[in-house]
Amino acid sequence: TAGRRFYHENVIDHFENPRNVGSFKRDDPDVGTGLVGSPACGDLMTLQIKVDESGHITDSRFKTFGCGAAIAASSVASEWIKGKTVAEVITIKNAEIAKHLRLPPVKLHCSMLAEDAIKSAVQNYKEKKAIADAAVA
Ligand code: FES
Ligand code: FES
Repeated sequence: TAGRRFYHENVIDHFENPRNVGSFKRDDPDVGTGLVGSPACGDLMTLQIKVDESGHITDSRFKTFGCGAAIAASSVASEWIKGKTVAEVITIKNAEIAKHLRLPPVKLHCSMLAEDAIKSAVQNYKEKKAIADAAVA
């Protein structure tokens, strides 16, 4: 198909077999939820992280309402962040995701959505933790 010529096999793989699709309960204290939209196209991505006591991401889930490149980028991001700390994952750049998927230039903003979603999920986790810590202190 045209899609198979346009996209690298890594995109097709993650688009056809996305990893970590779904959601965690937002209210769980160890869950951070990122919700971001792309200003370029209006697509939406939710990325959730589960974080243990030492700040490591043990699991992830995503839902993406968007194009195949955005779904593939979310899937890759959800895999890459597992086992890393929240401090580490906020340094993941959309360029790395785009490079892995060999995204064409017109699709670069789709991987930006994934970078933003990681940062947004970490931010949400930190805010929830700060509130919880303050309540305990
Ligand atoms: Fe929404 Fe890409 S513009 S799918
Ligand atoms: Fe909208 Fe890909 S075209 S995220």
